[in-house]
Amino acid sequence: MVRGLKLQFCTLFYNRSMKKSMLVFLVVLSAVLVLVIGFGNSKPPATDLRQASSHATQLHGMRALLPLPPVPELSKEKVALGKRLFFDKRLSHDNSLACAGCHDFSLGGSDRQAAAVGIGGARGSINTPTVFNAALNFSQFWDGRASSLEEQAAGPVHNPLEMGSNWAEVIAKLNLDSDYRQAFEQLYPQGMRGETIVDAIATYERTLLTPNSPFDRFLGGEKSALTQRQQDGYRHFLDYGCASCHQGVLIGGNMYQRFGVMGDYFRDRPGNRLIQSDLGRFNVTGREEDRHVFKVPSLRNVGITAPYFHDGSVDTLEKAVVIMGRYQLGRELSEADTQAIADFLRTLTGEWEGKILP
Ligand code: HEC
Ligand code: HEC
Repeated sequence: MVRGLKLQFCTLFYNRSMKKSMLVFLVVLSAVLVLVIGFGNSKPPATDLRQASSHATQLHGMRALLPLPPVPELSKEKVALGKRLFFDKRLSHDNSLACAGCHDFSLGGSDRQAAAVGIGGARGSINTPTVFNAALNFSQFWDGRASSLEEQAAGPVHNPLEMGSNWAEVIAKLNLDSDYRQAFEQLYPQGMRGETIVDAIATYERTLLTPNSPFDRFLGGEKSALTQRQQDGYRHFLDYGCASCHQGVLIGGNMYQRFGVMGDYFRDRPGNRLIQSDLGRFNVTGREEDRHVFKVPSLRNVGITAPYFHDGSVDTLEKAVVIMGRYQLGRELSEADTQAIADFLRTLTGEWEGKILP
């Protein structure tokens, strides 16, 4: 049957008169295409939100900003175990600091400090990102050096400026607790080990999603969830190109970009001393082109996670927006546009345990 069709097609193709009419057909088709494309291009610039958003969509062949998915169904027992570990100070050398000490749920899952403070008051050199929605990042840490939550969780436990401990020490302490011993024995054939501790913590972290932000409700069709000014901010966010980097379900968290595409942020930074963490992905890859390249951070809950940037150098959302306009887009944003964009970003604050995060 297929062979028959092929044969038929070949004879058609070699039939002269058919060839001629094919040619005519092709000419007409191209004329129509030229007309259609021409009309497409003569459309007025995007004036409403739908057009603006379909414009940003075309940038990456997908809808630029997407609602958060629902919290996944995971083993309740592992989630409960992971939660206990996340809040347990025994994961630190001097039993003074839990994961939740720096990733405080009443402070947007972060610490509201420019740089983290570890055990014994040790000052870290980089701003603490929120753990909320971190599970959806394409890699973990500002420089993306951990490829999974499991890999990430071992970091702070061993970092001398954070929890300053190690698995042998942590396991020796947790093993004294019969509840932990039992839970690990029940859930993991290999029992309590570094990798089962991080498995439980990562499982818990995967439930730390904050759905139902006003913006997500807006995307779901509830137009009144955003004020007019917030909608203006959303349109600017798309039209000015913020969404070419901050996009997807996290409005960020899915690519690396240089901080300072259109100017030298680090030269202009007040008290501009460079430190190692300013080098970003260069620290991971050693490649010159990765100097000052960072994971584009998620903007979810950004309204409640000041100060901003990996260096925690900026204390308001408005200032962060101005810097982004200047160094990432080469654009001096007006006061009104800056306000509207910041207002829009505040609609990205979602719900945790049924309530909008404070
Ligand atoms: C001393 C404060 C501190 C403690 C304690 C701490 N963290 Fe962090 N956390 C940070 C800082 C600072 C970063 C960013 C470090 C970097 O990017 O180099 C971070 C990054 C993360 C990230 C990556 C988020 C992202 O967007 O890339 C996750 C996830 C995370 N921490 C989870 C945890 C877990 C789980 C624990 C406990 C095992 C923990 N943290 C303990 C300060 C802390
Ligand atoms: C070329 C890519 C790119 C563009 C375009 C871009 N950003 Fe960013 N954005 C980044 C990167 C990278 C960072 C992280 C910089 C750092 O801290 O090292 C960032 C950080 C931020 C932060 C701070 C987040 C935090 O938690 O500290 C905000 C707010 C922000 N961007 C908003 C915007 C807005 C608004 C626009 C449009 C006016 C925009 N961005 C355009 C790449 C971009």
